[in-house]
Amino acid sequence: MLKNISILIVEPEEPTESQLVNALSTRTTASLLHAKNPTEAMAVISKTSNIKVLITDLFPPGKEGLKLIQEGCGKIPAMIPVVIMPLGSRDHIVEALQAGVYFYINKPFDHQEVIELVKNTVAYQKLLASSLEHTPKPRKSDGFEGIIGQSHAMQELFSIIRNVTANNHGNVLLKGESGTGKELAAQAIHKLTSERSRHNFVPVNCAAIPDDLLESELFGYEKGAFTGAARSKKGRLEHADKGTLFLDEIGDMKPNMQAKLLRVLQEQEFEPIGSVKTREIDIRVIAATNRNLNEAVREGTFREDLYYRLSVIPITLPPLRERPEDIDPLVETFLLMFNRGRQMPIQGFTTKAMDALRAYHWPGNVRELQNLVQRICILHGGNTVGLDALPKKFRELQPPEHETSPEAGPENHADGRAAANHIPEAPETTGAPIDFHQTTYEFENRLILQALHSTNWNKKEAARLLNMKRTTLLEKIKKRNLDRQDVA
Ligand SMILES: Nc1ncnc2c1ncn2[C@@H]1O[C@H](COP(=O)(O)OP(=O)(O)O)[C@@H](O)[C@H]1O
Ligand SMILES: [Mg+2]
Repeated sequence: MLKNISILIVEPEEPTESQLVNALSTRTTASLLHAKNPTEAMAVISKTSNIKVLITDLFPPGKEGLKLIQEGCGKIPAMIPVVIMPLGSRDHIVEALQAGVYFYINKPFDHQEVIELVKNTVAYQKLLASSLEHTPKPRKSDGFEGIIGQSHAMQELFSIIRNVTANNHGNVLLKGESGTGKELAAQAIHKLTSERSRHNFVPVNCAAIPDDLLESELFGYEKGAFTGAARSKKGRLEHADKGTLFLDEIGDMKPNMQAKLLRVLQEQEFEPIGSVKTREIDIRVIAATNRNLNEAVREGTFREDLYYRLSVIPITLPPLRERPEDIDPLVETFLLMFNRGRQMPIQGFTTKAMDALRAYHWPGNVRELQNLVQRICILHGGNTVGLDALPKKFRELQPPEHETSPEAGPENHADGRAAANHIPEAPETTGAPIDFHQTTYEFENRLILQALHSTNWNKKEAARLLNMKRTTLLEKIKKRNLDRQDVA
């Protein structure tokens, strides 16, 4: 099996290196390349494009090995990385898995383990190549200028954008919950307005820039206008001249800035701070807000005259929960986006998982869906994502009997290895401290249980899937008191 393939071994320790070389050269006809450190390895990778397997030391404490994998696989995407884990380095395993490594070998190892491991990587590579052939291509009709949406509401949005862009003028107010695609819509309007698209699209996040800086950011200043103004600086208004100024989170703009902005919109002119020279500008302002500006006007926190100036063309972006038919094309697009360059592309979601995605209320809208798909592409090693791989809140949306559907279980994965590599959910990062040892311990338990469940508790087979000695697995099962009733 291991004929005519090139394997790069990156190992600084002589005994370990010779052990690998002995195993691979006596039992295979693979051609072996060597490097002592990541820098040497990158030089080899740059010259040799047909390396199939990269076996590298982790290079603790900096874990340069993981960086090498990222850079190396960036150059040769088909190369499968294997990490040699130093003694007692269980804590690094999760990190390696998250970096996209699916194969590792613990020191000390024997010849047979090395051969098995390399055989597995090559078999996996073939599986990968065949699955890549079936990766769906983006469906052009589902989107518009990078905005995906086949729902009636989104089709309507596309037609409004087309009308808006037929004209060079007219300020636009984009309303909608956070994550519905307001910035994307603003960019599309800019790109499609022929007169403006040759000039700048200048985004300004009114909520992110401190009040006292917003004025100088927008208007710019002359040298010496205030302490610290060592030289003059162009404002964003001037950068946006003849193009588009995107004022995001306009609802957060303070009253004195609102007054200054109103003047610019009325007069189409302004003065940089400290300057007496008036500058004329020609801008289209696209403002966005997730707040109810009508209410802010009623409450007196947003100027009514500015509101009318900004909302010559009001457009509302519908929340994702009101257009579940957009979930499928969005998921497909995000999978293509985040699968790119990954060792183990995700083929898709099972029907039950898709049902759960469509049933969820998506408070964070498309951004939340995009983040979820990205997280799954990083953490999930299998090729089809079942309901069991989604965060708990999605599983609760389904009646319990669905959980037993053969489709949702790990047994539906293309092969046993993919099932074992199906990585359980990592803890949400809430900012609270995480007990690393406890978390990795639980993570390991779930990996072990998944392998056991997917092999119907065939321990030999499970040990093979986990790339672990059978005796080590038996010891772990005993020590951790794992049994068939435990849920992975
Ligand atoms: N219809 C869509 N099609 C593709 N990507 C989208 C869509 N809507 C939003 N996104 C993506 O979701 C994320 C949030 O969108 P964004 O425009 O920043 O939302 P908002 O400004 O309304 O908070 C971005 O990464 C964006 O590319
Ligand atoms: Mg935004």
